[in-house]
Amino acid sequence: MARTFFVGGNWKCNGTSDDVKKIVGVLNGAEVPPEDVVEVVVSPPYVFLPLVKSLLRSDFGVAAQNCWVRKGGAFTGEISVEMLVNLNIPWVILGHSERRLLLNESNECYIWNIQLLCFSLQFVGDKVAYALSQGLKVIACVGETLEQRESGSTMAVVAAQTKAIAERVLNWDNIVLAYEPVWAIGTGKVATPAQAQEVHTELRKWLHENTGPEVAASVRIIYGGSVNGKNCKELAAQPDVDGFLVGGASLKPEFIDITRDRI
Ligand code: G3P
Repeated sequence: MARTFFVGGNWKCNGTSDDVKKIVGVLNGAEVPPEDVVEVVVSPPYVFLPLVKSLLRSDFGVAAQNCWVRKGGAFTGEISVEMLVNLNIPWVILGHSERRLLLNESNECYIWNIQLLCFSLQFVGDKVAYALSQGLKVIACVGETLEQRESGSTMAVVAAQTKAIAERVLNWDNIVLAYEPVWAIGTGKVATPAQAQEVHTELRKWLHENTGPEVAASVRIIYGGSVNGKNCKELAAQPDVDGFLVGGASLKPEFIDITRDRI
């Protein structure tokens, strides 16, 4: 079955409202393939979500870069799924390696909360499940560190991360799986097409064995990690690379070149 190519732009913690208006202006004027060929979703920082939502062309989607794991409440600093739904933000990125490494988000974690005492959550998996349950679409991120790759545990790591998500997911229609090797993120050291294809193939095989052939055939597995206008074509030519999650290059006009890979 043909999987619609997916190009996500993760703006991370960057920009001012003027920058956002400039980037959205470039995106709004860009000629890109039709939505049924390439799905484009941009992910600004929380504070710019309403601005981007109000200015961005209607054929591009908008994603939050994270959300809280359950209904809102006494969780200072968090953004609830309900708030994103209220703002008509349809997508959310979850499990990004920068949150796993810098903020200790993991497959499991313990959170103390005076109202709920101590409880253990399949943290990233629970976040994905709760976001889906409230109608959001999810870009779920997995990826290994350089140390894990060099020790030969790449597939063990990404399979465990995918398992923690899969255990909490009943319906995969609204999930895009993003393989983002940590050693390629922000480093300029993009995975080779063969490296990306190898892990994507293994992930699709894992999905086939653990969620069934239909899910494995339909879920889009996208690559992230130093993608740019020059290296995207070779990566996009890989049969199991269904798109990209772009960081740095999504803040530049070359992001539009990346959306044109499959035409
Ligand atoms: O989420 C995408 C991001 O982690 C990749 O960043 O700058 O290496 O394209 P970058």
